[in-house]
Amino acid sequence: MEKQKIIIAGGSGFLGQHLTRHLEGKGFEIKLLSRSKNQGKYLKWDAKNLDDWAEALEGAYALINMAGRTVDCRYNEKNKAQILNSRIDSTKVLGEAVKACQYPPKFWFNSSTATIYQHTPGDLPANTEVEGILGDDFSMNVAKAWEREFFSHETPHTLKTALRTAIVLGKDGGAFPVIYKLAKYGLCSPQGNGQQWFSWLHVDDFCAILDFLMQHPLAGVVNLCAPDPRTNTQFNQLLRQYAKPLFVLPQPKWILEIGAFLLRTETELILKSRKVYPAHLLDAGFQFQYSTLEQALKALVKSE
Ligand SMILES: NC(=O)c1ccc[n+]([C@@H]2O[C@H](COP(=O)([O-])OP(=O)(O)OC[C@H]3O[C@@H](n4cnc5c(N)ncnc54)[C@H](OP(=O)(O)O)[C@@H]3O)[C@@H](O)[C@H]2O)c1
Repeated sequence: MEKQKIIIAGGSGFLGQHLTRHLEGKGFEIKLLSRSKNQGKYLKWDAKNLDDWAEALEGAYALINMAGRTVDCRYNEKNKAQILNSRIDSTKVLGEAVKACQYPPKFWFNSSTATIYQHTPGDLPANTEVEGILGDDFSMNVAKAWEREFFSHETPHTLKTALRTAIVLGKDGGAFPVIYKLAKYGLCSPQGNGQQWFSWLHVDDFCAILDFLMQHPLAGVVNLCAPDPRTNTQFNQLLRQYAKPLFVLPQPKWILEIGAFLLRTETELILKSRKVYPAHLLDAGFQFQYSTLEQALKALVKSE
């Protein structure tokens, strides 16, 4: 029997590579859209214009869009424009490609981010898909514009889901390897006042959720995070137990500002209070393999 095909745009990155391995293991044929690679399972695109790559969407089972310039950079005007445009342009052209298909994909999952919700400190309730409050700063406005572009495409035969994804923790990519390395050097004290919330997701659950959503379709927005937001202080206390540094250095906000400048990144990535809850997934019956931070960290640092 012919394998069902899944197209992953921006699939050469951290999440795309995990998804590729996972979905190939489930028997799907995977094609990846990349700006730089065009061999094997890769098809070249420029993430802006329709071209030959669009034919791959014909008859595909699902389209997953993971393309976007990394947000781990200084938010100067040039980078800000690239962060926004790379997401809008790629989503727009994928929408045009879906609409041009005679047999369009059954599903279109577009990456979004849990950063779309407002800074949520203290006892304020965690943001659910229904009651969450969207924020209004640069990153939140990028997320809103990205989802607006996505949902503006009318695709009567393709079910659309925006993946509001929290910080994904994996051994081999994303934020965790850097966080863990710094923790080993003693940087596992509360960052800033440490009261900001940290919503997270183990990368294996990220892949399992995509699988689940193809069997239990949910149109609209879905929060992808474990049901266990922790404060930054709690997160760092746990990290310290695993990283076992010889000493622990304080990390007040002003030191973080200097560090972020030197590392060419932004403190927002660690100081924003991200408190998100996966209400739709839990209602639909998804079972997390890593539902607590203890389980996730234990697995991530195993065999280190
Ligand atoms: N990782 C997380 O914790 C997390 C959390 C929430 C949301 N997200 C979102 O999920 C998506 C995938 O995340 P990831 O961690 O896998 O990111 P990643 O490792 O940076 O991969 C993103 C991919 O997008 C493509 N890309 C980079 N710059 C681009 C540009 N200017 N125009 C078009 N495509 C570009 C690249 O593929 P080519 O170079 O091959 O074209 C790259 O492999 C991103 O949109 C990210 O914002 C990630």
